[in-house]
Order: sequence, then structure tokens, then C-alpha cells
Amino acid sequence: MEVTPAGEILAVEIGRAGPVSFSRFMEVALYHPQHGYYRRRRDPFGKQGDFYTAEQLQPVFGLLMAARTRQLCRAAGVAADPTVVELGAGRGEMADRFAPWRYIPIEIGEGKLPEHWSGVLFSNEFFDALPVEVVLFRGGEFREQRVGFSDGRFVWQTGQRAGDETADYLARYCPPPEEGNWYEAGLAALEWIRRVAAALDAGCAITVDYGYTRAEAVRFPMGTLMGYRSHVAREDVLTDPGERDITAHVNFTAIEERGAELGLRRVSFRTLAQTLLDAGEEDRFASVLEVDDADEAVRRRMQLKTLLVGMGETFRVLVQRKEGAGEPEGEA
Ligand SMILES: C[S@@+](CC[C@H](N)C(=O)[O-])C[C@H]1O[C@@H](n2cnc3c(N)ncnc32)[C@H](O)[C@@H]1O
Repeated sequence: MEVTPAGEILAVEIGRAGPVSFSRFMEVALYHPQHGYYRRRRDPFGKQGDFYTAEQLQPVFGLLMAARTRQLCRAAGVAADPTVVELGAGRGEMADRFAPWRYIPIEIGEGKLPEHWSGVLFSNEFFDALPVEVVLFRGGEFREQRVGFSDGRFVWQTGQRAGDETADYLARYCPPPEEGNWYEAGLAALEWIRRVAAALDAGCAITVDYGYTRAEAVRFPMGTLMGYRSHVAREDVLTDPGERDITAHVNFTAIEERGAELGLRRVSFRTLAQTLLDAGEEDRFASVLEVDDADEAVRRRMQLKTLLVGMGETFRVLVQRKEGAGEPEGEA
């Protein structure tokens, strides 16, 4: 069986040191400098690629998110001169929409989180692309699910008891474990929340993604890992590393509760559809839908429909606020 270039790197590593953690597998598969899925020349997005994101439904998504950003900046008391930082900016689709403000897009190897800023942290499908640890609850304890290599293919191997950091994450942010269930620990996501909370002096973090809360986690007894290739979602994430996207649903409880401990207080947690409706209600979507070009008007109505009816119900938006020295105007 042919192994991908990222797969060869992983196979050599496994041959040398034994099965790797799933977070290591995901890191190489997605972010290896030459062979990682997001680092290769091929564009993963769009019709020829593997998936669309809401962000690519421009200009409707961008215009409404910019309107929501404006509302949230006002409510947080940072409307005068906000900076908008976008994590995982991808193809830079939001650049025009965030142009009224100082805009810092961050991608791997490009852009850096400012040491201090006031304004907004925006991300769309960033957290679901971060490596996670995978564990199995068996015999009354959490055991690591590692990745081995056997007969030319990558295979799951149950390893040692999970480390303290992973066990602590699972105890805090997941429901009481059930025998035989799989769980994921998004330690990399927690690290990003820590960095953001330390650097954002005042303003909001807007996180758009699909995911679950602690109570909802029971819906995923086998975990939430998915692989995407040519617009087809597959649960097998170990095949062809580097050639398909791998995602893990976001544990919103972890982001919210870790954020709260660090001063990022929850303002709202709603579906994407509700958030876009809030953003559009000020002018009843006039600024988004009323354009002279008839074809463009039809295109925009289709985009709005996709965002409200399709993606809108599965994607969630968490807004957290850091209070600064300025006076917030109240809830958004
Ligand atoms: C699913 S894509 C979403 C891109 C864009 N936000 C959109 O909605 O079209 C996730 C993006 O996060 C980026 N990313 C992942 N880890 C990152 C990191 N540590 N620093 C900066 N960007 C990262 C990836 O390179 C990728 O472009």
C-alpha cells in the first residue's frame, strides 16, 4: 500500500520510538512544513478542494460578522480604535470586511498575536483544526489512543494511562466517563485561550465553529474526529495523512470555562443563524441584500439562506468579553 509523504515521516518516527500520540499524528498530517495538509501548495478550500467554510460565503458572512463585531465593540466600550485579530485566517477572506479597523490575520508562520491589544479576537473553524489527544475509557481509567503502523497502514493502539494534563481536562470539561467511550482533550485550544486572555486587554473573543458542550458530549460515544476529502466526510482519520483534512469538534465548555477563569466572561453562546439574524436585524439585511446587480442580489440571497438554514444550525458562536479600563455599554 502506498504511503503519503507525511505518512512516511510518521511511519519512520513510529518505527524508531513506537506509536505516536494522536496529537502528534494530527500535527504532522495537517501542519508538517512541506507535507502537511495545510502547508502544501494545493488549495484545500472551495469547489476543487475538500470543503467550504462559512467564511467563504462572501460577502454575506463577512458583512454580517463585521456588523456583529461593530455591535460587540460598542458594547465592550472599545469602539473608538479597535484592533481585530483573526486566528487561522486561511485565504484571508475576511480582510476586506475587517478593513475599517486595524486587522491582524494570523496563519501558520504569518502574523503574530500582539502582546497587548483592545478590540476583537475572531476565529472561524480555527479551534476544530487544532491537534487533540484521544483517549479511551477502559477498565475504569482513561487510556491513551495512540497511532501505530502495521502492514503498511496506520492503526489505533491503546496505550498507557492518560497523562495528568489530559485526565484533568477530561474531568473538568467532559461528562462522567462511560466504559468503552472515546474522548478528546483539546489541550492546544486551552493554550490558545490562555494566550488570548493574557494579551487581550479589553474587548471580545468571537469563536465560530461546530462543537458541543459538556452535556452534549454524550452524543459522541466514539468521539468526534472527522476526515474530509473532496467534500466527503469520513470517520476514518488515519488514512492518507497529509491528503485530507482532520477535524475534532470543539469542546465549547472547555473554551468557556477556561476563559472565565482567565477573565474572559461569556456574553452569549448561540447558533450561527441566531448570531447572523442579530447582526442583520438592525437594517433588516438591507446593507447585505440590496444591491443594484440582479445576479449578485440572487447570489447573496442564496448565501444568506445557506448560512441561516444549513450551516447556521450546526455552527455555534461563542462570544466572551474581557473588561478593560473603559466603560462597557452593557450586554450586546
Ligand atoms: C479550517 S481552516 C479555516 C480557515 C478560515 N478561517 C476559513 O474559515 O476559511 C483552519 C485554519 O487554521 C490555521 N491554523 C491552524 N493552526 C494554526 C496555528 N497554530 N496558528 C495559526 N493558524 C493556524 C490553518 O492553517 C487553517 O488555515
